[in-house]
Amino acid sequence: MTTTIVPTPADLSITPRDRRFGREAAEPRLWHGGRVEATAIYNALSTTFPRGEAFFVESVRAFRDGAPPRLAEEIKAFTTQEAIHSREHDAFNKRAAQAGYDLTALEAQVERRLAVTRGKPPIVSLAATMALEHFTAILAHQLLAEPRHLDGADKAAADLWRWHAVEEIEHKGVAYDTWLHATRDWPRWKRWKVKAKVMLYVTRNFVVDRTAGALELMRQEGVTGLRAWRMLLWYLWVRPGMFRKIAGAWVRYFLPRFHPWDEDDRHLLGAYAAMGTRDEPRRKVRRAV
Ligand SMILES: [Fe+2]
Ligand SMILES: [Fe+2]
Repeated sequence: MTTTIVPTPADLSITPRDRRFGREAAEPRLWHGGRVEATAIYNALSTTFPRGEAFFVESVRAFRDGAPPRLAEEIKAFTTQEAIHSREHDAFNKRAAQAGYDLTALEAQVERRLAVTRGKPPIVSLAATMALEHFTAILAHQLLAEPRHLDGADKAAADLWRWHAVEEIEHKGVAYDTWLHATRDWPRWKRWKVKAKVMLYVTRNFVVDRTAGALELMRQEGVTGLRAWRMLLWYLWVRPGMFRKIAGAWVRYFLPRFHPWDEDDRHLLGAYAAMGTRDEPRRKVRRAV
């Protein structure tokens, strides 16, 4: 069955870049330009990555048996990239904790959400991974397309987020292609229904949990109540307005013949490569898992 209009580009290479960020110096507590709400939402997002991306890996790997050779190779590269992301965000989160943030409530919430999904059939975990990978890919696109999202950010932290964004774009088709392969015998309607339902569920949890997490970290800075809500909502929905700017790309996920590579954003990868890796030496990539 033909299932995609624009598949993953044939010449795309998914390249794990084994880099380390911010090990030499303590991170400023308000690393994002001294802004409480900006630091809070990125820290809240980062808190999800170590456990969340380990979950993505296990969800995709559960379906790698019988995958065509190219997809099997992509799954391997995806796995390595996500494992390194988990390591770097774990280090980033430890620096946030050293700077004085208590992340335990946020981490516990991630665990709770993952436990619910793990209690369902493996195909649901794959659908949730595919939905969250779409989220990370459209956030990554926006982050790289509009440098203002990282205006004023500490250099090592900004480098970490850009590096992660590049690799999220590179591997954005992997969970999706794994899903297409795993559900190749499903009727189209059933496929769409499960994909759409899981995306709606995941989106609700994503928005509610990240907002609550950011508000908790703002509370730890002494910013509470209406003032906190106003600052955070303005930042997310108005200026720079990350959530507003990804809304169109989010909706496209529901188109019947959607594929992540309908949006060919390899120019952002090219622009990143042209910047060079000035800050950290490249290392030879080891199998990180
Ligand atoms: Fe990642
Ligand atoms: Fe990813």
